[in-house]
Amino acid sequence: MLHLRSVTKRYGSLVALDDVSLDIARGEFFGLLGPNGAGKSTLMSLVAGLRAPDSGTLTLDGAPLTAANAASRTSLGLVPQHIALYPELTAPENLRIFGALYGLRGGDLRARIDAALEAVQLADRRRDAVKTFSGGMQRRLNLVAALLHRPKLLLCDEPTVGVDPQSRLAIFEYLEALNRDGLTIIYSTHYMEEATRLCSRIGIIDHGRLHALGTLDELLAQLPFEEEIRFPATPATAALAADLPVHGELATADAIHRFRPRPDFKLSAFFGAAESHALPGRLFTSQRPTLEALFLHLTGRTLRE
Ligand SMILES: Nc1ncnc2c1ncn2[C@@H]1O[C@H](COP(=O)(O)OP(=O)(O)OP(=O)(O)O)[C@@H](O)[C@H]1O
Ligand SMILES: [Mg+2]
Repeated sequence: MLHLRSVTKRYGSLVALDDVSLDIARGEFFGLLGPNGAGKSTLMSLVAGLRAPDSGTLTLDGAPLTAANAASRTSLGLVPQHIALYPELTAPENLRIFGALYGLRGGDLRARIDAALEAVQLADRRRDAVKTFSGGMQRRLNLVAALLHRPKLLLCDEPTVGVDPQSRLAIFEYLEALNRDGLTIIYSTHYMEEATRLCSRIGIIDHGRLHALGTLDELLAQLPFEEEIRFPATPATAALAADLPVHGELATADAIHRFRPRPDFKLSAFFGAAESHALPGRLFTSQRPTLEALFLHLTGRTLRE
């Protein structure tokens, strides 16, 4: 559906996107995971036609996306990172403006607005100015504003920033339902939990470069360890910890040992050793690797820096 080939975008001397190639298939829920300044919004703005790349090509449904045909991108909706609503106007008045931009009017537009407000649980606030809405309510309105014209591809740029857990869940469930009905979604976030929950495929982006691309399982398989075992660093566990470095990676911080065994090291051997040091099983917790660990492994940075 969407193809990016060697796309580079600079702002002066800063390379915001560096030779990015990416293919999005119809029906995907694609996650773009990266920290502040990674290039997520830049990528969204290029696809939406708000900016042109310095080099490389973008095509949507076989047609090249150029700055000149940006206005004709009716098959695409953008939920911008920064809320773009008129605060003095009500929710229906805001939606009427967005609908009009796409040539919607009359009874059809009214019906779409009513359905949109119902879908994101804002129908009972339809008479209030948007400036009286909570952050989460504004986010939900910002989201449906991009959907009124029923695009085939939705670009969601960090749609849950500053949102309470309940609104966040409502947004997740709404997007999941839309995706089940066939909407293709590109979703940017710096929360690995969101990418893990929502996305069928994830791209890890940092400093303008796509470092890894795949399903969650494919990405986690790139980590050299499958599991991390944590246990307290105490005099009682010192002898066990001293034996571990030959079997994998041992890191100690905040009085916690974190052990990442080499693939050939059997966990049964680990727990056998723990038992021989008379250490009870409840001291140990094991953790599946996460996208956070992968990000650290690929870039040497954490997502929250
Ligand atoms: N209009 C602009 N002019 C100059 N530099 C810019 C502009 N927009 C973005 N940048 C720079 O380009 C890089 C990528 O920014 P971008 O907004 O795409 O990142 P992001 O991944 O969306 O970050 P965030 O999570 O903070 O929204 C950053 O270093 C940023 O400072
Ligand atoms: Mg951004």
